[in-house]
Amino acid sequence: MSQRMTLIKSPVFVSETSLKKLGSCSALFPYPRPLELEIGCGIGDFIIQIAAQRPEHNFLAIDIFNQGCRSTCSRVEESGLDNIRVMRMEARYLLHHYLGGNSLRALYINCPDPWPKKRHRKRRLVNSEFIDLALYNLENDGFLNFSTDFTDYGEDVADLLNHDPRLENLNRAPYTNDLGDYPISKYMRRFLDLQQPIYLCRYRKKPGLTIAPPSISKGFRIPWPTEDA
Ligand SMILES: C[S@@+](CC[C@H](N)C(=O)[O-])C[C@H]1O[C@@H](n2cnc3c(N)ncnc32)[C@H](O)[C@@H]1O
Repeated sequence: MSQRMTLIKSPVFVSETSLKKLGSCSALFPYPRPLELEIGCGIGDFIIQIAAQRPEHNFLAIDIFNQGCRSTCSRVEESGLDNIRVMRMEARYLLHHYLGGNSLRALYINCPDPWPKKRHRKRRLVNSEFIDLALYNLENDGFLNFSTDFTDYGEDVADLLNHDPRLENLNRAPYTNDLGDYPISKYMRRFLDLQQPIYLCRYRKKPGLTIAPPSISKGFRIPWPTEDA
C-alpha cells in the first residue's frame, strides 16, 4: 500500500538525519529522563495520555504511516508536553539500529496490524524474534506492554510472554481484559465501543539479566532506509 508522503515540519518530529547527528534517542529530549517507546502510535491518542501521566519520563512515538506521524505531531504540539518526540520509522529498524541494550524503561505496542489471514500471520510484528530484540533493548525491570483487539494474536503473544523465563507477569493470568488505568488508544476505543474485549499483556523484564544483541529479520514490505539506500 502506498501512502502520500509530505514533509513533516514540527518541532517534535525527528528525522533519521537529525537522530544520526544527535547520536542517541535520549539526546532528542531537553532533559535526561528514563525513555519509553510506543511502536505504531497511529494518530497519537495513547502517547499523549501516557506522557501526561508521567512527566518525569521521556516518550518516543514511532509509526511508518506519514499522516499518522503528522497528526501525532500536531496533537503533541497542542498538548504542550515537552517529553514526547515523534519519528517515522520502522520498529525493528529503530530497535536494532538506534536503541542499545538496556536503553528503554518501557515499550508499548497497541493494536498492531493483526494480519488476520492464517497465511499472513508470519507478517505480524510481535513474535519470538521480536520479543528477543525488545528484551535486549529493555532495561532490567523494564516493562513490556502489548494490547490487541484480535483474540488469537492476544493469546499467541500472551503465551510467548508467559512462558519466557526472562519475564515476570504483572497480571494474574497471561493476559487480561481489565484495562485498569492503561490509556485507551484510538483502535482500542473503537473495539471497546463495539463491546469487544481488548487483550492486554503487561510484563516486566527480570533484573540481573545480560542479553546479547539478537539478529532480526526486516519487516514485511518495509524497507530499512540507510541499508537500502
Ligand atoms: C492498527 S493501527 C493501531 C494504531 C494505534 N496503536 C492505536 O491503537 O490506535 C497499527 C499502526 O501500526 C503502524 N505500524 C505497523 N507496522 C509497523 C512497524 N513495523 N513499525 C512501526 N509502525 C508500524 C501502522 O502504520 C499503524 O499506524
